[in-house]
Amino acid sequence: MYDEKQDFIHHEREVAAFWNIAKIQDKCKNMTILDLGAGQGMHAGFLSKHFKTVYASDVINYSSLYGGEFMKLLGEKHIRNNYEYFMEKIHFVETDAMNLIYKNDFVDVVFSVNTFEHIPDTFKALEEIIRVTVREGLIYISFDPIWCADSGSHFYDYVSEPWEHLVNNNYEDKMLSCGATPDQVNEYKVAMNRKRPDEHKKIFDYFIKNGYVSLEYFNLWKGTINPNSCNHKNFKKARDIGYSTDELLTRGMCYLLRKN
Ligand SMILES: C[S@@+](CC[C@H](N)C(=O)[O-])C[C@H]1O[C@@H](n2cnc3c(N)ncnc32)[C@H](O)[C@@H]1O
Repeated sequence: MYDEKQDFIHHEREVAAFWNIAKIQDKCKNMTILDLGAGQGMHAGFLSKHFKTVYASDVINYSSLYGGEFMKLLGEKHIRNNYEYFMEKIHFVETDAMNLIYKNDFVDVVFSVNTFEHIPDTFKALEEIIRVTVREGLIYISFDPIWCADSGSHFYDYVSEPWEHLVNNNYEDKMLSCGATPDQVNEYKVAMNRKRPDEHKKIFDYFIKNGYVSLEYFNLWKGTINPNSCNHKNFKKARDIGYSTDELLTRGMCYLLRKN
């Protein structure tokens, strides 16, 4: 069940990780930031406290949701939970990461959390991100769970067997039998880019090795959502069909890049 307070705590932690890695919290009051794959704006509120402008950008036009009341409700949600929210500094923009509407060298910082496992062509997205970032600007990209993780289906709340999406050819039927709606099944079919960890890494490596960006920080984390996942028969099944142990245990990655 959705817990609003926990949702704030969770997003606040993700922004705290960004501050901790980027170390620019006290330097950004005149900077603009692009929150890419901003979703319903839960990071934007935290970022708006420190940046001059936040471009909360997403391929979905969230601001038209809830009968056009999205912005008002988001503001109320912050007040209800005692969080600051500088609405005048946040612009919700509908744009595809693979074809950003922004001009070259437009933003000082890019922040993208839990979106790179969804964007269909992340090479194109990273190229676009680099294009719209100013020289010396920072690009922070963190994402979890990657497709090969035990909960990489993103529908673990319905189908709780680990790695079931990798080993069950009838996974969509299974989702329905576990209570997912046909709309959720349709979302499952397209919402994740299904890239394996090495495919993600190769894309970042390309831009680093060719000098478009410098690598300031990288982290890759391992583990399972459930401590017992590795005892489940799907762990062996997934390895039998070609996934390595390393892939199955890779949950997420975080990059901090600086545009050259
Ligand atoms: C898991 S949500 C994360 C939202 C937000 N960053 C957060 O952590 O709360 C992934 C977001 O990526 C967005 N997204 C997926 N593909 C995209 C694309 N091609 N361009 C921009 N946003 C995209 C989705 O619409 C969704 O809002």
